[in-house]
Amino acid sequence: MAIQWFPGHMHSTRRALAERLRSGIDVVIEVLDARLPGASANPLLAALTSGRPALKLLNKQDLADPQLTTLWLDHYNAQPATRAIALDAGEAAPAARLIAACRALAPLRGGMVKPLRVLVCGIPNVGKSTLVNTLVRRKAAKTGDEAGITRAEQAIQLASDVTLFDTPGMLWPRIEVPQSGLHLAASGAIGRNAYDENEVALALLARLQARYAGAVAARYRLPDPAALAAMPADALLELIARQRGLLQAGGRPNLQKASEVVLNDFRSGALGRITLETPDEHARWLAAGQAQEAARLATKRRGRGQGAAPPSDDRP
Ligand code: G4P
Repeated sequence: MAIQWFPGHMHSTRRALAERLRSGIDVVIEVLDARLPGASANPLLAALTSGRPALKLLNKQDLADPQLTTLWLDHYNAQPATRAIALDAGEAAPAARLIAACRALAPLRGGMVKPLRVLVCGIPNVGKSTLVNTLVRRKAAKTGDEAGITRAEQAIQLASDVTLFDTPGMLWPRIEVPQSGLHLAASGAIGRNAYDENEVALALLARLQARYAGAVAARYRLPDPAALAAMPADALLELIARQRGLLQAGGRPNLQKASEVVLNDFRSGALGRITLETPDEHARWLAAGQAQEAARLATKRRGRGQGAAPPSDDRP
């Protein structure tokens, strides 16, 4: 899967984040997309914050499969120095739950002498601005559906002894796990120019066939979910195009339009509450991606050893 993009202000954001962490942060809140918690976790952040108490916020839970959200919450809550809560933009006052979780993660902090300092991070489009707006109860941060909108850091007084530092959304330059790249693209986290919509829609359909064939049948008024689950994803996309009357000259199905329909329906929740990955699935894809990356680097090293010019960086 060739997802290519320029990760915007990644370097400056990363520097600012590292500086803020050095200034003394007690808890790192990572906002994740509850539909793809594994894929939406930024490995750069993991490297920067490792060992610090972490609150995983599974956001957009209203769009995610409740059963799998429970699986993910249990998965994170079983990890040391980690708590997880699920929420969505419909929650009018999430501050109390956030503060309680942060206090539990850093019980020795709090009060005027040792105020609790919390950092909130997340990839673009995960709903961080919306959450921050709710927390400050005013339209402070710009929200929008284009990936990569960045803002300067802002500090929010969540309670008299709790300060929350907001950071701009940050992506990372190289996705080592192809399935994660597909899930990020399907969710809208990556700018549209960086991927092929048809390829991403086919990958999304394959995930839907595996677990949500009934939802696909209901949305596109197709019979027999069992048959839908068994057919190749491209045949299903063609069926959806025909069912929706998305045809080109000569009556051929317009697969580009059908891809856009499927992606939009997933993003808006029109297909129902869907989660693209379980913790076990993500762990398998991650291990495979890391093995592939290790093999790629070994090949590159061998190439250098044989006199090839050293590449300028690690990009493909
Ligand atoms: P970001 O700062 O992490 O980049 O994300 P942002 O808050 O801008 O949210 C991205 C999109 O996700 C917005 O939709 C926002 O409304 C939506 N969103 C945020 N939180 C939730 C949630 O809990 N549930 C659901 N269903 N959607 C959520 P948009 O269509 O791009 O913009 P808008 O017109 O709604 O503002």
